[in-house]
Amino acid sequence: MDVNYRVKALPPYVFVELDKKKKAARAAGRDILDLGIGDPDRPTPLRIIDNFREAVGKASNHQYPIGRGSMVFKQAVMKWMEKRFDVGITDKEVMCLIGAKDGITHLPLAFLNPGDIVLIPDPGYPGYTSGTILAGGVPLTMPLKKENNFLPDLKSIPEDVYKLAKIMWLNYPNNPTSAMAGYEFYEEALSYAEKYDFMIAQDAPYSEIYFNSKPISMLQIKGAKDHVIEFYSMSKTYNMTGWRCGFAVGGEKYINGLGTVKENMDSGTFTAIQETAAWTLLNCDEEAGQIRALYSRRARAFTKGLRTIGYEVLEPQSTIYLWVKVPGNMKSMEFCTRVLEEADIVVTPGIGFGQAGDGYFRIALTVEEELISKALDRLKKVKF
Ligand SMILES: Cc1ncc(COP(=O)(O)O)c(C=O)c1O
Repeated sequence: MDVNYRVKALPPYVFVELDKKKKAARAAGRDILDLGIGDPDRPTPLRIIDNFREAVGKASNHQYPIGRGSMVFKQAVMKWMEKRFDVGITDKEVMCLIGAKDGITHLPLAFLNPGDIVLIPDPGYPGYTSGTILAGGVPLTMPLKKENNFLPDLKSIPEDVYKLAKIMWLNYPNNPTSAMAGYEFYEEALSYAEKYDFMIAQDAPYSEIYFNSKPISMLQIKGAKDHVIEFYSMSKTYNMTGWRCGFAVGGEKYINGLGTVKENMDSGTFTAIQETAAWTLLNCDEEAGQIRALYSRRARAFTKGLRTIGYEVLEPQSTIYLWVKVPGNMKSMEFCTRVLEEADIVVTPGIGFGQAGDGYFRIALTVEEELISKALDRLKKVKF
């Protein structure tokens, strides 16, 4: 039996070929340096692990997690939102997620009817598109261009598109470009959402990995709760990708819709993980600061080295990535294949994040500084 038309409509996984080549090179005994995957190389900080040892020992944490998150977790998020952004939310405006990806891919199922348009940043995280397609929606891309500071040009979107739009995805701090958004842009986006009555889903898993100015929450804008849901994550802030814990905050109607879908699909995040995540949000600013400083050092070192050997690197502002111009006239896939063949390094071609990403490649800052020097030495071999 064949898969259905929705699964068939999912975009092809463009990294397959590169992935195959990486595996073949490793099997042939080559020492491949992987700067492709956005997964922190360092472990979860010890204090968090110690807290979890205690949480996992409690029998009360061993049953099915209840509802949209434990009260302990929801209250910690409410306090964190207040402390971090000065945003007050109620326990009905928050829910626990099995990582931000869980919320991102399930949100469209709650709100789309067949044919509804979803506006998606290009380049962008693939989950925005796959969630839309699996829910029967129509993804339309909003190119993120350097001349617009990698913000979508909201004025250029035709009125008839806005009229059919149900969701607009935003993602700041941005993967893969590392760009940030401020009040003015969020206010403009909200004004469109108010005029055409759509939802803005602002994906913020890198909210705590910034190098100069602190990212703001879109919920700081007056009236935002009527149109906005935001996604946050423990994954990158505290090196907890494998724990699968994040949260959504925003308008109650959006939390209710997403909550209803999830109640019918999963049984939530292990309560002991929620307990530790709650404690972490309230007690681990120092750890988050160390992680932020680590990426900032790596971003600076890598950027300086790349510029010295002739690459055009966007000034890193946030996240765990560098967004670098593909040299010469090569396509991003051709360039990344050459980097693998000639320098034994895996980097991600921009095309993997959308058509508008094709002039760039992404470097994940997930290796220690010694390996950054090694990567730079190897990259010198790739002539352009
Ligand atoms: C932009 C963006 N959104 C969401 C996610 C998923 O995060 P989580 O681990 O919380 O599911 C990622 C992970 O890389 C990401 O880059």
